[in-house]
Amino acid sequence: MRKGYVSPSLMCVDLMNVQSDIEKLEKVGVDYFHVDMMDNHFVPNITLSTDFIKALKKISKTPLDIHMMIEHPEQTIPELTCCDENDIICIHYESTLHPQKVLASIRAMGVKAGIAINPATPVCVLEDILPDVDMVLCMTVNPGFAGQKLIPATLDKITRIRKLLNEKGYSEVLIEADGNVSFENAVKMHAAGADIYVAGTSSIFSKAGTLEENLEKFRKIIGE
Ligand code: DX5
Ligand code: ZN
Repeated sequence: MRKGYVSPSLMCVDLMNVQSDIEKLEKVGVDYFHVDMMDNHFVPNITLSTDFIKALKKISKTPLDIHMMIEHPEQTIPELTCCDENDIICIHYESTLHPQKVLASIRAMGVKAGIAINPATPVCVLEDILPDVDMVLCMTVNPGFAGQKLIPATLDKITRIRKLLNEKGYSEVLIEADGNVSFENAVKMHAAGADIYVAGTSSIFSKAGTLEENLEKFRKIIGE
């Protein structure tokens, strides 16, 4: 069974207690922190910024999984020099005319490169950039907001991305599922071939259990 990784979405922490929530997550031990950057152009919302990432790096050693939902990502990437080889910087295929160039620039910084696709973007757009990516992020809701409902067709999309990666010789590339990754949906995403799971309001931050209980339940589902 492939190892699954938990990546709690930091846009879901209590904004009045960000540092203590992050410290709690770090103490229970998570694999990544998912950092959603939004610019109110690519998506209709504004969330975490480069300043947030720089401040986070000063208090945390957990690898970052940065999800850039912003236009012109190439203008912001050079600001992320605090990132290293354990971090992933992920851009959206739809956010730039030159995704290959931007992905190569991320790797040139010594950081892992990820490509994200929206629910309406077909899997075939990934084919010619597979040599340039370490991770594919499959949006399972339309990006912009926490607390949405899964778009069922995206489960089959994860299966098709895994098939494409295996067939083209890129089986080591990780697939991340992002959006309504509830305990129930994580079972299906795991069966479809996902590796990294963005844990948000519907799982790790669910009020039904403590952080520790939720994480344990999650890890059992994703095979660790
Ligand atoms: C979008 C974000 C949220 C995050 C919130 O890019 O990353 O979707 O997953 O988690 P849920 O969907 O469980 O509230
Ligand atoms: Zn995200």
